[in-house]
Amino acid sequence: MKWERQLNIQAATYEVRPLFPAIAASDQPVDTLEPGQFIDSPTAQFRYCVRLQRRGTPLLTWWGSQTGTVIFDGDVGIPALFQKVTAADGQRRWGASPWMSLTPAELLTLRPGTRMARGHVVVAGLGLGHQLIEVSRRLQVKRITLVEVNQELVDWLLPTIRRHMKKPVKVIVDDAYKAIPKLKADIALIDIFPGYGGAQAKIDALARRSPKIKKFWGWGTSEMSGRMLTDR
Ligand SMILES: C[S@@+](CC[C@H](N)C(=O)[O-])C[C@H]1O[C@@H](n2cnc3c(N)ncnc32)[C@H](O)[C@@H]1O
Repeated sequence: MKWERQLNIQAATYEVRPLFPAIAASDQPVDTLEPGQFIDSPTAQFRYCVRLQRRGTPLLTWWGSQTGTVIFDGDVGIPALFQKVTAADGQRRWGASPWMSLTPAELLTLRPGTRMARGHVVVAGLGLGHQLIEVSRRLQVKRITLVEVNQELVDWLLPTIRRHMKKPVKVIVDDAYKAIPKLKADIALIDIFPGYGGAQAKIDALARRSPKIKKFWGWGTSEMSGRMLTDR
């Protein structure tokens, strides 16, 4: 499916992989969820929940510099991953936006990178493992190296994510900006940015420091610039 300013999706056809199928969907604020509506990581640094997107309620989408909406013809559950952040008053609270959620906008904007994956692929940023799973299912992909900065996230979610993967993954727990320049690969897919767009300069700089990686793709950069890849 291609991005359009106004998308209409049949709810029954919107298939996302829940990592924890027993979690019930809710549209309540993330900090007021009831038991059974969320699962927290061991030190409660991360929360997995399923956002209830109600029939007919518009949800924001984006593509490059454009924004739009998507409407479903029935209720859908959208898995989401929140991280605790330190608020202005010093209290630890769930971030206002999730690190990752399996919305149409996220899936559509990750797809251009996934379609470029072949050979040895570096995937930076675990999140809900969506791109990692999709990359692992491509015949052209031979092996995968994941670079994720957060050890707790890897220990907590990767065992569940691995069940959906078709190829083994080597894991490096480190800052992508430090670890990636040491790697050799056919392509690196980078999704470590909290917001959409504006990462092209960071990707270009990382590519210049990574002489053994042939191509780079960064989330949000290809639709933004019209350039699909950063070639070294
Ligand atoms: C938006 S999520 C990735 C979503 C993922 N593409 C998916 O399909 O589910 C961003 C991830 O990058 C990680 N991250 C953030 N900064 C990082 C860095 N400097 N190096 C490596 N990982 C980082 C976060 O911990 C988070 O897991």
